[in-house]
Amino acid sequence: MPLPTKVERLAPAKVNLALHVTGKRADGYHLLDSLVAFADFGDRLSIEIRPDTALTVTGPLADRVPEDRRNLCWQAAEFFGETAAITLEKHLPMEAGIGGGSSDAAAVLLGLSELTGKPVPHGAELLGADVPVCLAGQAARMQGVGEDVTPTAIPALPALLVNPRVSVETPRIFKGLEKRDNPGLPMIPLGATRREFCAWLREQRNDLTETAVSLCSEIGVVLKALSELPGQLGYAMSGSGATCFALFDTVGEAELAAMDIERAHPEWWVRDCVLS
Ligand code: C5P
Repeated sequence: MPLPTKVERLAPAKVNLALHVTGKRADGYHLLDSLVAFADFGDRLSIEIRPDTALTVTGPLADRVPEDRRNLCWQAAEFFGETAAITLEKHLPMEAGIGGGSSDAAAVLLGLSELTGKPVPHGAELLGADVPVCLAGQAARMQGVGEDVTPTAIPALPALLVNPRVSVETPRIFKGLEKRDNPGLPMIPLGATRREFCAWLREQRNDLTETAVSLCSEIGVVLKALSELPGQLGYAMSGSGATCFALFDTVGEAELAAMDIERAHPEWWVRDCVLS
């Protein structure tokens, strides 16, 4: 079959349903044990092989997104060893804990693999700790510093994502941690109903939350607003923040919750979706 000349890919939002920090390596990177899911929406990319790399950023959240080598999409093409014309339609906020940059990089790597017939080179975690799980593109347990990815089945989870439009510098949050030797995730329940799964999730943690809230008080305000939503089955922060999520039994409840939050906080970024 001939190879395509252009591919279009979704770079879905990544959500850490739980994120346990279990240690620190000698090089300063942290050992994690995280359950990750992906949304049914995200950035959109189109990729074509060209003699030189060029990146165009469009879309509602394109503001301040670099169109040069600083962008992970560009670095991903270099890592793959190809040059490409890339259009990135930005729908996910930057530095938001939902893997915008990593998901974009994974989409470029997968797109270039489709265009060239070559496999994605090993070592993609060098681009960012979340890139390997984004390459898997499905719910997974993520361990090590992010390179150890085990796909897992979870129920589809109607969800609401909320970001107070404050960007968070991930290294600052990791540096600020007071405790780094926390217990890992217990066995992930397989075959659980949505309600059973959410009950299990409510027992888990995001070990970055306390530090993130102390450095960015808006995250605390978002978490409180999510805790008060009717019908929520659990809520937490994703990654190092500032995006937080709440889970629901039905898509309708998530949509109503989105309207409630938008009305009360028109300045926040709000999006309902389904995580799986
Ligand atoms: O790899 P990524 O760009 O997502 O990481 C941003 C920063 O977060 C790293 O430079 C590091 O300071 C911190 N980090 C960490 N341990 C991890 C992942 C990230 O300490 N497992």
